[in-house]
Amino acid sequence: MKKIIYLIPILFFIVSASCQNKQKENENLVEKDFGFAAKQLTFAMQEVDKGIANESEESKEKREKKGHGPLVSPRSIEDNGDLILVPSRDWTSGFFPGELWYMYEYTKDPKWEQAARKYTAPIEREKTNGVTHDMGFKVYCSFGNGYRLTNDENYKKILLESAYTLITRYKPNAKIIRSWDHNKDKWQSPVIIDNMMNLELLFWAFKESKDSAFYNIAVNHAETTMKNHFRADYSSYHVVDYDTISGEVLKKNTHQGFSHESAWSRGQAWAIYGYTMCYRETGKTEFLEQAKHVVDYVFTHKNLPDDLIPYWDYDAPEIPNEPRDVSAATCTASALYELSMYDEENGAQYKKWADTILENLSENYLAKEGGDYGFLLLHSTGGKMLGFEIDKPLVYADYYFLEALLRKQKLEQTGKIF
Ligand code: GLY
Repeated sequence: MKKIIYLIPILFFIVSASCQNKQKENENLVEKDFGFAAKQLTFAMQEVDKGIANESEESKEKREKKGHGPLVSPRSIEDNGDLILVPSRDWTSGFFPGELWYMYEYTKDPKWEQAARKYTAPIEREKTNGVTHDMGFKVYCSFGNGYRLTNDENYKKILLESAYTLITRYKPNAKIIRSWDHNKDKWQSPVIIDNMMNLELLFWAFKESKDSAFYNIAVNHAETTMKNHFRADYSSYHVVDYDTISGEVLKKNTHQGFSHESAWSRGQAWAIYGYTMCYRETGKTEFLEQAKHVVDYVFTHKNLPDDLIPYWDYDAPEIPNEPRDVSAATCTASALYELSMYDEENGAQYKKWADTILENLSENYLAKEGGDYGFLLLHSTGGKMLGFEIDKPLVYADYYFLEALLRKQKLEQTGKIF
């Protein structure tokens, strides 16, 4: 008995020292990754400016013929090793300025604000572009973060105009926002699961303008998607096509997944993030439950690797010899930090999974310092079956990585993110 009494303070000391070490490690992870990001993004800006200045005459001519604006942001790396730069109309154009805003948020150093403003400015022309649903990705990640951090009134105007443009795509009979206008021979009014992400701009616009149209459209879209996009096991289809007159579902397809009936990894990530955000904005528990169901699907999947970085599709036929999709992992990690705030029973587990993802990415998936055009993470997959961006860095993987790191820090320091 005496021995046990002596052991108690020793045990207490060991446990508390190990807790302190864990906290230190976590702080170090965020600090280390932001230190790495500062170097990489400084290099990336040089590479982007160089790439824009050196655009070939052929590329310029092709771009201008199509009516596309100037190149503004990096997206990925070509198979031949060239940097892929995109004009503002590309769905990925807002992520690079978004990363620079996250650098400003973390460091509070005005040099990052200046950089973020520089790469945000050329996205403005998208505010009137009504031919795609990608407005949130482009404008909310860039101007949205900028407004949140600076209260710039001009940014607010741009965001509101963008939100009004986005809701011109709403189809009231089907209660959906049409995602794409391309592939008209295949689909009448396609909605992709990715579109859940663009609703955040509409919820923001509702709060700023008090125009309930934004709120109602976002909620209707989320509810229709919940009804039609998910299988019994809560995995998500990528594309659902609607008849805009009758509102009926015409097809359930994939575009970037392995097959119509497979679970494309990034689609599951968009769903987890999208429904978590919808719960934050509406308080509707059906959205919270949906996010949790998709999390269960992903984290109990037999094909999810031990390091929690998924293959590009949960049903990819050659697993384990398939490329990963780091972008699905970073988006999921960011969403899990938020979800952990809303679920007392599973919150600790959600946070643990998010931490594990960030630890493994930081350990094994970082790009080469001073290389890879300044991207942060390797091993993402854009569209394997379509033959593009296979096992490559992707700008949106990096964006959600920084977002997840910031959320982790906020959660650990203050117990909340929002
Ligand atoms: N939003 C397109 C993609 O996730 O690849």
